Amino acid sequence: MNTQLIHNVRSRVEEQFRNHSVDHDFDHILRVYNMAMYLQSQEGGDIDTIACAALLHDISDHKLNGGKLNDGGRVAKELLLELGTDEAFADAVAKIVDGVSFKGAGIADEAFNKEVQIVRDADRLDAMGAIGIARAFHFGGSRNRPFFIANKAPEEHATFEAYVSGNSHTINHFHEKLLLLQDRLHTETARKLGEKRHKLMQSFVDDFYADWNFEAPQRNKE
Ligand code: ADP
Ligand code: NI
Repeated sequence: MNTQLIHNVRSRVEEQFRNHSVDHDFDHILRVYNMAMYLQSQEGGDIDTIACAALLHDISDHKLNGGKLNDGGRVAKELLLELGTDEAFADAVAKIVDGVSFKGAGIADEAFNKEVQIVRDADRLDAMGAIGIARAFHFGGSRNRPFFIANKAPEEHATFEAYVSGNSHTINHFHEKLLLLQDRLHTETARKLGEKRHKLMQSFVDDFYADWNFEAPQRNKE
């Protein structure tokens, strides 16, 4: 592993993310990086490519860069070239960075190599389970969205543009993305880890509806 390069990339990313955004804090990046390293240890794939792509996967998020979709790869490549990597390596990482994101329920994930599968799985695992639930409500709250509107049904988005411009309530995000992730994990190792996280989200949503629709039990008449 090229520890010097990984160290330099990590420092640059940390600098950029400091005080940056509520839903893409540096802690998310570190969790994804650690998970990607674990998945790599079980599943293989080029460790330097996976490490750099995990650290750089949110480097230019459309929610923070003025709305440009798929700009992350370009920014990642520039940074890597500046840090002295060769062009082929920078291109490989850039391709993964652009490929990682969930782009909508109706859009298939292009799994062009092991490395993109691993970074994508690591990013998705962090959107699932207890942390995933926390992140979703944090995201909705930061945009002043209601967490639930009873008569507003979820949508299946057919384009990335439609997905990112949707501004539904947060419970819908579970149906539009979070509950779909388990079946879209690529690697065996991630699928195993995802099971528990998926179940937790499912029972959370089930309980949410049950509590919302609470009706007082009928009193027994003597
Ligand atoms: P990722 O970092 O997994 O690529 P995103 O950039 O899409 O994910 O979103 C960052 C976090 O905010 C994730 O946990 C995601 O589930 C959550 N999030 C994204 N869109 C919404 C939304 N419309 N409502 C609630 N949470 C959202
Ligand atoms: Ni991410």
